[in-house]
Formats: sequence, C-alpha cells, structure tokens
Amino acid sequence: MACKRVKESLVISLYIERKQKMKVKKSPYTCQVLVCTKCRDKKNKSYSQGDIEEIKKRLKKGVKKNGWKGQVRLSSTGCMGICGDGPNVMLYPQDIWFSRVTIDDIDTILDRVKKELR
Ligand code: FES
Repeated sequence: MACKRVKESLVISLYIERKQKMKVKKSPYTCQVLVCTKCRDKKNKSYSQGDIEEIKKRLKKGVKKNGWKGQVRLSSTGCMGICGDGPNVMLYPQDIWFSRVTIDDIDTILDRVKKELR
C-alpha cells in the first residue's frame, strides 16, 4: 500500500515538474528539402566534404532566388536509409527522393519544388 502511494506521488511530481506540454501543429512549410550530409562514397569519404556542400549551397540559393522563403525549408539531415545511392535529397512531405545527386541536378530539383508549390 505504501509502495503504491509512493509511486502515485512520484507520478504526480513528474507531471507537475513537466510544465510545458508537447505541442502539435501543422508545419508552416509546404515543402522541406532534406539533404543527407552523412552519405559516404565507396572510399568511405563523406560527400559532405565534396559536392553535397555545394549542392546544399546552390539549393539554398535557388530557394532564396525564387522567393520561397517561408514556404520551403532546406535542412541537412542524417541517414535516410538509402546510403548506397548518395548523395540523397528528399522533398517532404511529398516523399520525392533524388539519389546520386550532382550539381548538374540542382535545376531539376528546384523545378520539382516549384511544381509542388503550385
Ligand atoms: S547516410 Fe545518407 S542516406 Fe544513409
């Protein structure tokens, strides 16, 4: 009996200590461009040391140039589970994946983002 009361008071204490409750809300972004910066090539060299940084930079520039700020969010992300096909870029929540991305593919990705914003 005493043990049950201790447990109850512990639960109540934890509830009281957690003053901020989790918030759930809709994303303000129509499209999030997620760029995996963890993929590695066959020599186990991170793409983040090569093209991926330039890819991110150009995508970010494209978002800004097109005036999509507030609608499109570009973020670096960790593994998306398709490492062998890197560098990988994903549009979310559209669930469109671009693999083996090179700098030459930037316009294709930005065109797809544009299409998704319509
Ligand atoms: S590390 Fe990039 S998809 Fe796995």
